[in-house]
Amino acid sequence: MTRFEWRVHNPDGRLRVVVTKELPGQRWLDFLTEADCRVEICTSTEVLPTEAIAAAIGEHCHGAIGQLTESWGEDLFSALQAAGGIAYSNYAVGYNNVDVAAATRLGMPVGNTPGVLTETTAEMAVALTFAAARRVGEAERFLRAGRYQGWLPSLFLGELLRGKTVGILGAGRIGSAYARMMAQGHGMNILYYSRSANKTLEDDVNAFGRFQASRGRPAVSCRRVDTLEEFLQTADCVSIHTVLDDSTRHMIDARRLALMKTNAILVNTSRGPVVKEDDLVAHCRSHPQFRAGLDVFENEPELADGLDDLDNVLIVPHIASATGWTRRGMATLAAANVAGLLMGYPVWNRSDIRPFLGGDSPKAAPSIVNADALGLARLS
Ligand code: DGY
Repeated sequence: MTRFEWRVHNPDGRLRVVVTKELPGQRWLDFLTEADCRVEICTSTEVLPTEAIAAAIGEHCHGAIGQLTESWGEDLFSALQAAGGIAYSNYAVGYNNVDVAAATRLGMPVGNTPGVLTETTAEMAVALTFAAARRVGEAERFLRAGRYQGWLPSLFLGELLRGKTVGILGAGRIGSAYARMMAQGHGMNILYYSRSANKTLEDDVNAFGRFQASRGRPAVSCRRVDTLEEFLQTADCVSIHTVLDDSTRHMIDARRLALMKTNAILVNTSRGPVVKEDDLVAHCRSHPQFRAGLDVFENEPELADGLDDLDNVLIVPHIASATGWTRRGMATLAAANVAGLLMGYPVWNRSDIRPFLGGDSPKAAPSIVNADALGLARLS
């Protein structure tokens, strides 16, 4: 276990918290210091294997902050519980890497970091959508390779998106933010397929559409569809914003890709395994007009064979939430989750987490996903 480097912050803290990666900002350390924690931070950039995390937890540990690249299951939660731990937070809004059922069985609260990634991730989905539609990656590679010999009427023709229909797969926080950007910012119609209806999104976009029409401009609309088939057949562009669980794993496979328009665009900023990546490679190979913009991959950091050879696929390395403000905010929320639980605070009861990001923060743990299952008190 010695190959990983660690640093210690606030060495005299009474409680011990293990953090498996260096996090940006200072506010997160202040939260843990105020909770009288000695914070042990792994400064190595490699993904820590489960045994290394268990060794770091050791025999005396009160809380931990882990990464989406790690598998937090029965083994680690048992180790944390046996070491006296009462708090875990993921440094992510998504928590498919966490076995929440196992944590709950062991009485371990699990925190996440919602609210600070919403617009940041949606902006990346927008960037990938336009970049894929207008073949930006391909065109840049062409230029850098010294192949540009002058303007041509048919050089890198792409797809115009204005007035077309964008399909949102999963209309939660991030999906809705993306939908608003595409509808209100760029005049696209919205179609969504989601577990539950998002009436606020529908009302807002449809009201905006009526306003546009009242000014003699093309209207936009938003509607929910009942079947994935209709959704995929109708949308000109599909952006994935669903969680990853057993019901969404490989939701987009060869059969579903075949339903999409041959010149459609598929964008994924949620979790890689929602798309069966080998099927996507085959589809993009046989449909050169189809385009994909991907931030996430099925087996990160590996890519499916052939994915990076395809000109109609644009790829970035899981950076949709990578802005300084967001990553500092995620650190603040993860630390506030752990510190709040260690201080015996109740759980925050509102979806707006901004009060934690500056000034005096509420005496609460901002977001604990199994709070209700564990019967944790909410801030009254
Ligand atoms: C998350 O928080 O789930 C994101 O994937 C991190 O970028």
